[in-house]
Amino acid sequence: MTDVLDDVRDHYRATGLIERLKAALRAFGPQDQRLTPGQLGALDQFHTRGLAATAELAKLAGITADMRVLDVGSGVGGPARYLAAAHGCRVTGVDLSAPFVEAARYLTERTGQSGLVSFETASALELPFEDGRFDVVLLQHVAMNIADRALLYRELRRVLKPGGRFATYDVVLNNGEPHYPVPWARTPATSFLLTVAATREAIEQAGFRTLVAQDDSEAAKAWATQLRAGPLPSPNLGVVMGPDFAQLGANLARNLLEGRLGILTAVFEATSINP
Ligand SMILES: C[S@@+](CC[C@H](N)C(=O)[O-])C[C@H]1O[C@@H](n2cnc3c(N)ncnc32)[C@H](O)[C@@H]1O
Repeated sequence: MTDVLDDVRDHYRATGLIERLKAALRAFGPQDQRLTPGQLGALDQFHTRGLAATAELAKLAGITADMRVLDVGSGVGGPARYLAAAHGCRVTGVDLSAPFVEAARYLTERTGQSGLVSFETASALELPFEDGRFDVVLLQHVAMNIADRALLYRELRRVLKPGGRFATYDVVLNNGEPHYPVPWARTPATSFLLTVAATREAIEQAGFRTLVAQDDSEAAKAWATQLRAGPLPSPNLGVVMGPDFAQLGANLARNLLEGRLGILTAVFEATSINP
C-alpha cells in the first residue's frame, strides 16, 4: 500500500511548482494584486468540467456559511477557495502531495482567503482529524488513485457528523479499459477505477445513504468535445502537471467520448451507524 501511495505522490510531485505559478500568474498583474477563483479556474480546478462542476456539486451538497467543509485530495486548492468564496464557509483541504499543499497555500494567500481556507498534507486513508468534525466532505477526482475504497469511505464517514453530507464527483469505469496516460495516472499501476454500481456499494457499506446519484457522462462528453476543439485557456493545468498535460487531457477526452469512462456525481448522508 505504501508503495502505491509513493507512486501516486510521484505522479503529483510537481517540482518547482511555486516558481512556475509565480511566472504564469504574472499574466494577471503584479504579485500584490488579489486574484479571484474565476481567474485561476483553468489551472486550479483539477477535474472534468472545472469550476462549473465544483459549483454544481456544492449546490447539490447544500453547503452554507455555517458549515465546516473538508475537501479530501484538495489538489492546488481551487475547489476549497471556490467554496469559501461562494458560500462563506470554512474549508480545510488535505492532500497527499506536499508540493500541491504548498501551492494551495500560496494561491490562497494570493486570493486573500487564508482566514477561511487552510491546507494540510495527509493521506485520505489516515485523516488527521477527530471523529465527527465536519458537516460536509468533498471528494472530486481522487478516488481513482485509491485502491482501498472500503478504508477510504470509512475514513470519510468517521470525520463526518451523523447526518453530515459526503459529496463526490468521480471518474468511473464504463465500457472497456481506458487509454493511458490520463491526468491521474501515467500507467494503470496507480489507477483504481470502479463502476458506478461498485462505487455506490462501497460508499453505502461504509455507513452512508444515497441522497443524489446522477450520471454526468454526457456533460463530460460535451466538455471533452470542446477540449478537443482547443485551444486550452492560458494559464492552465499544464503549469501544475508539466508539458505532457495536453496528452493526459486528450486521453481523458478520448476515454469519455469512446464511453470507456463515465462521470458520477453523488451526494450521501452519513447514517448514525458508523461501521
Ligand atoms: C486529479 S487531482 C484532483 C484535485 C482536486 N480534488 C480538484 O478537483 O481540483 C487528484 C488529487 O488527489 C490527491 N490524492 C491522491 N491520492 C490521495 C490520497 N490517498 N490521499 C490524499 N490525497 C490524494 C492527489 O495528490 C491530487 O492532488
